Amino acid sequence: MLLPATTVTLALALLSAAAPSHKPAGVNIPLHKRKTLTTANGTFDRATAIKDAARIANKYFQTQVNFLKNTGHKINNRTDLSFPTFLHALLPRQAEPLTDIEDDTEWAGTIAIGTPPQNFLINFDTGSSDLWVPQSSCTNCGSHNRYDPAASNTSAPQVGNFSIQYGDGSNVSGPIFTDDVTIAGVQVTNQSFSAVTTESTEFVDDPTDGILGLAFSDISNLGQPPFFQSAMSQDRVSASEFSFKLAATGAELFLGGRNTTLFTGPVEFHDLSQVAFWQIGGGSVAANGVGVSGTTFDAVIDTGTTIIYGDTEQVATLYGAIPGAQEFDPENGFYSFPCDSTPTVAFNWGGEDWPISAENFNLGETKSGSGQCVGAISGQDVGLGPNVWLLGDSFLKNVYAVFSVEQKAVGFAQLV
Ligand SMILES: *[C@@H]1O[C@H](CO)[C@@H](O)[C@H](O)[C@H]1NC(C)=O
Ligand SMILES: *[C@@H]1O[C@H](CO)[C@@H](O)[C@H](O)[C@H]1NC(C)=O
Ligand SMILES: *[C@@H]1O[C@H](CO)[C@@H](O)[C@H](O)[C@H]1NC(C)=O
Ligand SMILES: *[C@@H]1O[C@H](CO)[C@@H](O)[C@H](O)[C@H]1NC(C)=O
Ligand SMILES: *[C@@H]1O[C@H](CO)[C@@H](O)[C@H](O)[C@H]1NC(C)=O
Ligand SMILES: *[C@@H]1O[C@H](CO)[C@@H](O)[C@H](O)[C@H]1NC(C)=O
Ligand SMILES: *[C@@H]1O[C@H](CO)[C@@H](O)[C@H](O)[C@H]1NC(C)=O
Repeated sequence: MLLPATTVTLALALLSAAAPSHKPAGVNIPLHKRKTLTTANGTFDRATAIKDAARIANKYFQTQVNFLKNTGHKINNRTDLSFPTFLHALLPRQAEPLTDIEDDTEWAGTIAIGTPPQNFLINFDTGSSDLWVPQSSCTNCGSHNRYDPAASNTSAPQVGNFSIQYGDGSNVSGPIFTDDVTIAGVQVTNQSFSAVTTESTEFVDDPTDGILGLAFSDISNLGQPPFFQSAMSQDRVSASEFSFKLAATGAELFLGGRNTTLFTGPVEFHDLSQVAFWQIGGGSVAANGVGVSGTTFDAVIDTGTTIIYGDTEQVATLYGAIPGAQEFDPENGFYSFPCDSTPTVAFNWGGEDWPISAENFNLGETKSGSGQCVGAISGQDVGLGPNVWLLGDSFLKNVYAVFSVEQKAVGFAQLV
């Protein structure tokens, strides 16, 4: 017998009301401040910006290798998948000591692994899909918290090894485990992750202990469901979406819905063009109302990236629309503009304009007293291929962002 739709809905509502529920209605995880690319004296921190680009290119190279391994085809229909050439040129320079940045932390929050819980400060990353933390036996993991499998009675070793390769030959690697993982009361059992026994130097110095990937399993190195997908399949979240507010104050990750106190108006959703990264199509960008000509582009929305990287030609056109803008560091795709001007740069996906505030667009003076400031959009292919932009914090700090696994869409709303 076919029931009218309303009856089915009512029946389901009654069923779920009667079922015992251990899932919170949605939980918020306060996040610590993110590093910036501006030094304390207001100048652009070029060394860190270059190191950052290398780190991002490494990440996107590795996740695309994972995608090929997991699916048998290349992401974005790419014909090649070679390590970005600009990176080879960068690597020798990575030996440069990092400038001291006082607030050198990422969008980090705390998670617990095991029984009894072992706590870790984690970088929540929508641009990757694996969870890893250092293991107790690691001898080059700096001062990070370490996971001791022997101290958790819910820990189980798994077959195989996890390994992320880096362009400079270093890697992060270690054995795979499953264990309970809890974030702000959202508890998942049997979550696959790696407890790494080797860390490359860039991670040893990182204030966070490890990374929790929030993208899809096709780009997972472990080839297992990421934390949020486990939380969904184990019915631990009340909605199949999570949301970020990454503004300078009150940054938070909301698991299992949206924190409605943090935004106004509707959420403008855009379907994913490919379910791997959080990648949406149909994007365009304009500076001072002048659009970048040509076709629309795809954009990967990544909480694990600090600035914005765009197609080199489109970025050149964009800065061409900003009076006084000039190339600052052509090799690394950076441009400058007069610090006393406030260019309006806005992204659009066929609905509202989503502008970048003047503050978020400005990465600081090229050098003290130059009067020229570096823009937060770099014309650099970090390995996603032509016509794919990578939108990191410099964009995300301006919006409330909703990542819907169920709808396979990313939505933006106006911050309060
Ligand atoms: C929503 O955000 C506010 C401000 O950060 C916070 O106080 C509140 O607890 C959050 N709501 C929920 C349901 O977590
Ligand atoms: C500003 O900071 C940078 C990096 O820390 C340094 O190289 C530069 O000399 C400083 N400039 C001034 C005027 O203090
Ligand atoms: C990849 O190619 C297929 C088949 O030609 C096409 O349908 C799809 O849109 C392409 N995907 C991207 C991201 O370009
Ligand atoms: C596992 O550890 C927890 C916390 O220490 C304890 O409450 C529980 O009884 C232990 N379970 C087993 C099966 O040993
Ligand atoms: C995993 O790494 C360990 C230690 O390097 C090694 O002994 C083991 O053979 C590796 N296992 C697989 C399946 O590659
Ligand atoms: C990972 O790096 C370590 C130390 O740099 C090296 O000994 C090891 O061979 C590397 N492993 C892989 C799989 O590249
Ligand atoms: C735990 O996870 C592993 C790897 O994902 C899977 O093979 C196994 O069946 C799971 N066990 C349970 C009890 O869910």
